[in-house]
Amino acid sequence: MQHLTAIAELSDGQVHALLDRTAQFASLSQATDRPLTASSPCVQLLFYEDSTRTRTSFESAARRLGYATCLVTASGSSVAKGESLKDTMLTLQASVQPVVTVLRHPENGVVADVAGSTWCDTAMVNAGDGTNEHPTQALLDAATLQSHFGEIDGLHVAIVGDIVRSRVARSNSALLPRLGARITYVAPEALLPEDIDTWPGEVCHEIDEVLPHADVVMCLRIQRERMPHGFDVDSAEFTAALGLTEQRASRMRDHAMVMHPGPMNRGIEIDSAVADGPRSLIVQQVKQGVYTRMAVLETLVRSRT
Ligand code: NCD
Repeated sequence: MQHLTAIAELSDGQVHALLDRTAQFASLSQATDRPLTASSPCVQLLFYEDSTRTRTSFESAARRLGYATCLVTASGSSVAKGESLKDTMLTLQASVQPVVTVLRHPENGVVADVAGSTWCDTAMVNAGDGTNEHPTQALLDAATLQSHFGEIDGLHVAIVGDIVRSRVARSNSALLPRLGARITYVAPEALLPEDIDTWPGEVCHEIDEVLPHADVVMCLRIQRERMPHGFDVDSAEFTAALGLTEQRASRMRDHAMVMHPGPMNRGIEIDSAVADGPRSLIVQQVKQGVYTRMAVLETLVRSRT
């Protein structure tokens, strides 16, 4: 594995190897906090978009593996002075000499472009590019489902909310059906991509129709920062149509669980009582995120050193 910019790059064997390694890290847990050494490989984190979970999760994963990290965010660096991504990469390649670059960027396709450029000499990991992909989120969601349900094959996953703008929905759509899950996309037309017919699942406009049948409900927030100028979604209407309230959650199957990639807007796409309740896998997702990123970083570092 040379890079991870999209789920489609991974063979079935690589997906299973990453999920197995994630499970091993999860069971080792505390035993994996290794000290830095003079020769510790460096993972650089370039975050051109806001992030809490993904950034700290990659940092924690790198630290537990004994890797050094170097963080550059768009504000507070020369990016704010107009420096290009290429110049930022060239500068860091010459100074901190990273083995892996974890890149989050608002433009679709940028991570794959950098990975394919002549001037990139690190492995690239996509930490979310525009509305395109967020492959480690899909892998951590798969790891969470596998750890909770034992297997993913046969699960019915309802993905609910602002699907058109969600890279999480895209990466999960590229991964979960390959592992045997069935997906239903739940949103009104305005929040679905035009090519939804080509996505691997069914469409339903009514959350109440899907809730009694799903094993998993994955809630997505309204992603206003990715909306075209002049377009907006009314939060109250969104909640009325799609919000996972306590009352709606009570109509889910007994064993059914709730996921959310975060950040949550409590009271809009999900009620606090559901997010913090017994059906919630949300904290598990964050925990599995660290182990998943350990598996990804370790695999890339090993293939490069
Ligand atoms: C997601 C993202 O950035 O795509 N968050 C995350 O990484 N956990 C989802 C979102 O922003 O809504």
